[in-house]
Amino acid sequence: MPNIFVKDFGISYYKRRNETLVFEHLNCSFANEKINAILGQSGSGKSTLLRAIAGLLSYAGDIYFDEQNINKVPPFKREIGYISQEYDLYSHLNVFDNIAYPLKVLNADSQEIKERVLEVAKQCQLEDCLFVKPKYLSGGQQQRVAIARAIVSDPEIILADEPTGNLDSRASIAVMEELKSIHEEGNTIIMVTHNPALTVYATRVINMLDGQINTDIKTVADQNLPQKIEVKRTRGKAKRSRKSNKGRKN
Ligand SMILES: Nc1ncnc2c1ncn2[C@@H]1O[C@H](COP(=O)(O)OP(=O)(O)O)[C@@H](O)[C@H]1O
Ligand SMILES: [Mg+2]
Repeated sequence: MPNIFVKDFGISYYKRRNETLVFEHLNCSFANEKINAILGQSGSGKSTLLRAIAGLLSYAGDIYFDEQNINKVPPFKREIGYISQEYDLYSHLNVFDNIAYPLKVLNADSQEIKERVLEVAKQCQLEDCLFVKPKYLSGGQQQRVAIARAIVSDPEIILADEPTGNLDSRASIAVMEELKSIHEEGNTIIMVTHNPALTVYATRVINMLDGQINTDIKTVADQNLPQKIEVKRTRGKAKRSRKSNKGRKN
């Protein structure tokens, strides 16, 4: 049973009088407990799709999470943790308070917040810098704070946009191992990347091309043998037309 359904999805950006049509009638789904890697050239719409699933953009069509339209679920009740490419940490808060933020929004009690933040900080190897502001951290540490903040409320789905985009290879491996261990605890991960090397961690690899899924392949990450489940050809280049009004202005 898939837990995310993207149905008849369309989105355009408007700059001055120009429309950039990124998606039109896209249909796809993401099943439980997988590490999904979404690959594609820069500009192919990977971040747009992720931000829409995170509920950060308006769009045409529908996105369902376990049969519930995401737009009808209040943001704090969505079982989704989003890690943006730029980390987007709160610069005025220390690591502890950054990680605690989603729990405070949920009105958790202070003892529960303390215990959970310490647990997640330990998991993400951040115990030694809990009272430091983000600007004093390395890129890898900041990325781990962003991951800790995304998982602290234990959402079922983690969305990660280029989770290793700004990191060296050692920090990248540490971050990917972290995402892998989160997946092993039962979470679904949807990760956007332009780095094919990261697909070794994925159980499913989706290639985007011209606003459609070009290939969709199950990988060997947690199995012994490769199993190719589905390959879809693109239905041709997405048309760019001012007449199309499928996506709303953002
Ligand atoms: N805020 C925005 N305003 C206008 N155009 C945008 C905006 N964000 C993305 N785009 C355009 O939409 C297309 C898809 O962008 P994006 O989703 O960021 O792709 P990717 O993450 O695959 O690089 C690109 O052509 C990009 O220039
Ligand atoms: Mg992007």
